[in-house]
This record gives sequence, structure tokens and C-alpha cells, in this order.
Amino acid sequence: MGSGIAQVLAAAGGEVAVFDANPEYARARLHELRRSAREHEDHGLVSRGTAERVKTNIRSSTSVADALSKADLVIEAVPERLNIKTAVWAEIEVHAAEDALLTTNTSSIPIADVARSLSRPYRLVGMHWFYPAVFVPGLEVIPGPATPSSLVARVVEVAARAGKTPTVVKDSPGFVANRLQLALFREAVAIVEDGVAGPEELDAIVRTTIGFRLPFFGPFAMADMAGLDVYRGIFDVLESQLGPGFSAPSLLIEAVDRGDLGAKTGNGLLALDAQGIAKRAASRDASYSALGRLVGRLSQG
Ligand SMILES: NC(=O)c1ccc[n+]([C@@H]2O[C@H](COP(=O)([O-])OP(=O)(O)OC[C@H]3O[C@@H](n4cnc5c(N)ncnc54)[C@H](O)[C@@H]3O)[C@@H](O)[C@H]2O)c1
Repeated sequence: MGSGIAQVLAAAGGEVAVFDANPEYARARLHELRRSAREHEDHGLVSRGTAERVKTNIRSSTSVADALSKADLVIEAVPERLNIKTAVWAEIEVHAAEDALLTTNTSSIPIADVARSLSRPYRLVGMHWFYPAVFVPGLEVIPGPATPSSLVARVVEVAARAGKTPTVVKDSPGFVANRLQLALFREAVAIVEDGVAGPEELDAIVRTTIGFRLPFFGPFAMADMAGLDVYRGIFDVLESQLGPGFSAPSLLIEAVDRGDLGAKTGNGLLALDAQGIAKRAASRDASYSALGRLVGRLSQG
């Protein structure tokens, strides 16, 4: 992940120093990311001049001290093991500038756990990028324990300047994206193990149905549009046949009991108004139509 993140920041005009414990690997990755930046530009996937900026703005460092000598932003992306991260942060703290932004790209370890060993734990912020960093727009920003909002705002600003769409979430194992992603994966495996569908069929269904809708509508928007009473009815069937893992969540039960059924009653889980509902329905149809054509074109190529 580190090289992809370096590529994004260098493309946005930042000067990036990369340090990796394995210098051979770091050299090979640097070569590869320059090659891929050129290829992206040649194929029109990134703006003109990107490859040149990536080439000139990234250098490889031979020590943590050298990498951090001029750094105002530090992004740690070492393996997802707390003991490795703790050891690396001990070294970073020695060499990082007093006011440098300190971030970790952990994808599941609570920031509080990584921060625990720091002398100033409040300075650590989670900056969770997604693979491939060059093309995935979103990233999660996770304040550590007692991190001042001014520091969080600076991380959000850096991400936005790099062309990303940051969303701040609370510290928790797996944050939002990986908790959701793993819940989906766990159920996918259970479905395959139950013999309901093979892995190929399962992936095809996700891509062409629920996944197809996700670029425009998250789970709450989908529930509001489908109807909360409909969702509750489905939960009831699944609970009776598959067990308590499928009990309807109390948030949903309470909304239905209040008569808030989503778009059809004008009140749901998201803030809705009549104008917004009509606009959303119109943009849904236009978006799905455009996406359907794009997916069709890309799958032919
Ligand atoms: N792979 C992904 O899709 C992805 C996505 C988001 C976040 N992340 C997170 O990014 C981090 C790195 O994941 P990855 O997939 O890039 O792992 P990786 O194993 O591909 O890369 C980790 C790099 O860290 C280097 N390293 C190991 N120990 C080191 C040390 N003490 N000092 C300096 N460098 C050291 C390794 O040589 C390696 O090049 C993890 O926290 C992971 O959870 C990964």
C-alpha cells in the first residue's frame, strides 16, 4: 500500500520520501510505480504530467531519520501486526518533527492500540487508504484517543488536497469499511458452504445486483428506498429459517413501529423530504442507466 499512497501524494505535487526495511523491495516498488504511472498516463487514466511528477517527487530513503528529515506528514504502512507497528512508531517518534502529522494506514487495529506506546498518543491519526490508492476515491480518517480536532482537520485537508474523499469515523476495530467488507465476506462464505451458490455465481450476483447499486446508495439509502417494512419482513423470514443471527435490528423495528417506512412515508433512516425523495429517484434512474452502459462497455473490452 505504501507505494500506491506515495504515488497519489507525489502526483498531487507533494515531495515524498519512502523508507522500507527491505531496500531491494523498496527499489523495485519505486521502479514499478514509476512505470505504472507512465502507463496510466499513456492510457489516459490520469492527467497529463502525472508520470513526470511521480518520477521527480518520490525518493527512496535509506533510514527512518533521513525519510523524516523534512516530513510534515508521516504515513506508516508496515504490516498489520501491532508489535511491528509499535516498534516502527518508537523510531518515528524520535525523528519526526514536533508538529508533523502522524498517521497510520492500519486497516483494522484500533488507533488507540497503535498510539498506546507513543509519548504523545493524541498525535496519532488513522488514515486508512484503499487499494488501489491511485483510483479508489475514499479514505477513512480516524482520530486517536483525545486527538484535537485541529489535527484531524489537517489530515482531512491533506487527503482532500490529494484528490481523495475523506470521511471521519470513530476509532473501533476494522473501523467502518473493513467491518462491512468482512461481514459481507463471512456471509458469502456461509452461503457457499451451505451449497446455495458457488463462488463464481455468488460473485456474479453481488456484482450485478446489490453491488451494482452501491456506487450511488449505501445501506441506509437502500433500506429507505426499499421500504423499512419490507426489510423487516425479510428479516423475520430469515430469522425464522436461519436463526437469531438474522433478527431485525431494533433501530429498524422501532422505525417501522413508528410508521416511518422510508421514502414511501417520507420518514426513514436518513433525513428525507418530498423534494429530496423525488430528486433521488430521478438521479437513481439516470445513474443506473449510465452505469449499466459503462459496465457493459468495460466488460466487452
Ligand atoms: N493491502 C491492502 O489492500 C491494504 C489496504 C489498506 C490498508 N492496508 C494496510 O497497510 C499496511 C501495509 O499493508 P501492505 O498490504 O502494504 O503490506 P506489505 O507487506 O505489502 O508491505 C509492508 C511493507 O512494510 C515493510 N516493512 C516491514 N517491517 C518494516 C519496518 N520495521 N520498517 C519499515 N518497513 C517495514 C515491508 O518490507 C513491506 O514492504 C497494513 O497496516 C495494512 O493493513 C493494506
